[in-house]
Amino acid sequence: MSLFRTKTVEQSMAAADEADHHLKRRLTALDLTVFGIGVIIGAGIFTVTGRAAQQYAGPAVVYSFVLGAVVCGLAALCYAEFASTVPVSGSAYTFSYATLGEIVAWAIGWDLLLELMLGASVVAQGWSTYFVTLLKQLGVTWPASLGPAEGWHFDLPAFLLVVALTLLVAKGIKESLRVNLVLVGVKLFIVLFVIIAGIGFVNRDNWTPFIPASAPGAKGSEGIHAPVLQLITGMTPATFGVLGIMSAAALVFFAYIGFDVVATTAEEAKNPQRDLPRGIIGSLVICTILYVAVALVITGMQKYSEIDPKAALANAFIVVGKDGFATLISAGAVAGLTTVVMTLIIGATRVTFAMSRDKLLPSGLGVTNPNTGTPVKLTLIIGGIVAVAASITPIGTLEEMVNIGTLAAFILVSLAVPILRKRRPDLHRAFKVPGNPWVPWLSAAFCFYLILNLSLETWIRFLIWMGLGFIIYFAYSRSHSKLATGEEQPAEDALLGER
Ligand code: ALA
Repeated sequence: MSLFRTKTVEQSMAAADEADHHLKRRLTALDLTVFGIGVIIGAGIFTVTGRAAQQYAGPAVVYSFVLGAVVCGLAALCYAEFASTVPVSGSAYTFSYATLGEIVAWAIGWDLLLELMLGASVVAQGWSTYFVTLLKQLGVTWPASLGPAEGWHFDLPAFLLVVALTLLVAKGIKESLRVNLVLVGVKLFIVLFVIIAGIGFVNRDNWTPFIPASAPGAKGSEGIHAPVLQLITGMTPATFGVLGIMSAAALVFFAYIGFDVVATTAEEAKNPQRDLPRGIIGSLVICTILYVAVALVITGMQKYSEIDPKAALANAFIVVGKDGFATLISAGAVAGLTTVVMTLIIGATRVTFAMSRDKLLPSGLGVTNPNTGTPVKLTLIIGGIVAVAASITPIGTLEEMVNIGTLAAFILVSLAVPILRKRRPDLHRAFKVPGNPWVPWLSAAFCFYLILNLSLETWIRFLIWMGLGFIIYFAYSRSHSKLATGEEQPAEDALLGER
């Protein structure tokens, strides 16, 4: 059997109705948009913005955000088309099973796990930092030995957060989203607060020069720490200037991650064909406007070189003498990052759920509990892994790893859109990417360009993760999948490879 055996779209849709692997359809367009905003606005805007402005782009980080939005906007169109055509749990994994073949689907599923589980762990550590900062601003000292720190240690707040959220997610998606709704409200309020309260403190001189002159990369930014593009082209590693804007774009891309996670809940949407494109594109547009405004305000409040690379938003207000505002922002960040972690955990369980239903992972894992309508066993396993990673490993700054995993998935989803259009022109598409195949190809090309702006170190780590995934595929999944055991027949018209 070929490595590129595919499932038919109909098989994927029918699997969603299996009694013990069935998720309840309970979500509306508003739920999905809130879900999207809940996962998009997080550590990216609260912490990464400061680092990107201070180390790479200066005020021109605004351009990096615009560039990130264009790349994500194109990819969002592709996700929206797929989600409206194959509204089944699993997002990019399921889309690629129906187009590019099993091995590619496995690679994407494995890759999405990196994005979602590592993303949840990274943001949980960011949450812990803000939590301890907030306590300090309120006059409470958290024991340093049980808090966020560099290196291997036990981070109790991160651990407790993940455990609590895992139990909530296991209880039911609607319950999780009710909590989400409240926290997203708080988060939006805080982001708007930063923009409105910050405008009065903007000093236009801080925007000059808007694009600081290109400078040699900081010490330690050469060798495997340099962006792959600079290594390939033999350029001297540089920050600021145009190259700095690109590097910052590859970093702040993290702030946009999450609209794709909306697609993982396709099976839980009441009217997925209509509402998924609305949820995906709606949440992305709202977040883009907010990000550009926040980036303008923050770089206007402080000289870029003085921006705090860890907690830029709160610190900008301390600098102008508004400590009370800073406390409020830290509280907002604590609320805001909570929803990101929760939503990423939901996304990870839905992807592994789809993979276990196809028997690429043991199928017993994906059985749904009749009372909660959620895959409880799987949720507890994913939550357990995230809790351990977030509380004892030194992964807090691995945003770039999350970015590379996500960008790789975006590339494959973008390439898959024209393929499915050609193979299955008959399928009902409630939403269509305009300008096919050029727009999807452009989307793939932009994502690839951003990937090239990530460091060689990130590439190496990513390749090791993918290598591990392929070992599991050949040792287990390939021979156990439903297509291998004959439980399902591969699609007749597989495009790639021979069967
Ligand atoms: N976009 C999410 C964040 O910024 C992952 O935290």
